[in-house]
Amino acid sequence: MPIKLQQQENLAGAASRAAQGFGRISKTPPPAFDPQNEQQAACTYFAENGFVVLKNCLNTADLSFLNQFFNQTQQTKPDAWGLGERRKPHHRNQGLIFSQPLLDHPELDRFTRHPGAYPVVSSLLGGEQHVRFSEFNFRETPMNAGVGTMNFHHDEALADRLVRRPYMPCDWLCAIHYLTDVEPDTPSFCVVPRSNRFETLKEAFEELGEDYAEVPLYGVSGTCILYDTATFHTRLDGDGIRSRRTWHQYYARGGWLPSALPTTNKYIRAPSPPLTNWNLFPERLALHPDAATRRFFSHWNTAQGEWVASGFDPKLRKSMPRGEQ
Ligand SMILES: [Fe+2]
Repeated sequence: MPIKLQQQENLAGAASRAAQGFGRISKTPPPAFDPQNEQQAACTYFAENGFVVLKNCLNTADLSFLNQFFNQTQQTKPDAWGLGERRKPHHRNQGLIFSQPLLDHPELDRFTRHPGAYPVVSSLLGGEQHVRFSEFNFRETPMNAGVGTMNFHHDEALADRLVRRPYMPCDWLCAIHYLTDVEPDTPSFCVVPRSNRFETLKEAFEELGEDYAEVPLYGVSGTCILYDTATFHTRLDGDGIRSRRTWHQYYARGGWLPSALPTTNKYIRAPSPPLTNWNLFPERLALHPDAATRRFFSHWNTAQGEWVASGFDPKLRKSMPRGEQ
């Protein structure tokens, strides 16, 4: 049974920084690994801590391309970013998100298995044949966004992680690429290392004892953070003035995997279930002529199943949440 803790945000916007987590914020930055030369060390660190920081995952041309994509689409497709008339008043001070840019932008396909971070992702999920695409979106905390104070939470997580042996590979992992520099005054991602082994943040706090820490992750543009979706995390607000852009991509584990539980040695882990009931893959990817690419995009949810059955009917897509044009 999936455990899901909702992201809780103070939509009223606090005047000052409100408390997040237990306030034991680490002043020591975690190591950052070179994904080309330190792949094994990066994977070992992830397996122990539930996250890893990778440096230099995007080059100058990639960063320029993606930032230009933000600039252009915010002008040409404001509704897709939540910037248009349909933007709800109580969301106006919250972050922007372009939920499904892959649907209409094949120029982004090359980023779905980008050579910067992908080799590490692949290794963490058990090899190329076990990596599946889940979700791809762009987010921006705009200038003067204020202080939203997101609480610590984890994303989707499967309960068997608490008892299965071995723990790895994890069920899903998320790659967050910083597209602008992230410093103490900008919004930043923040994790609680090793918290993926616990059901609640309180339990992690009590069980990890002295090792419990909330670790802000700063880095220049091109830095990539990989985290197990079961790891507790949040977004720290920074000064509420400066902006930040990020690219978020979720990957799932595919295939059937022999494992063990305390009660039986004959346990088999099924492919990780879909993360959402609305995320869609376009025809060019879902029905790609290359078998390995089709396998990568093979984790369809029921909305996708219906869309494929309709022959990728644009009217059906439009009727779905976040099926933005
Ligand atoms: Fe999250």
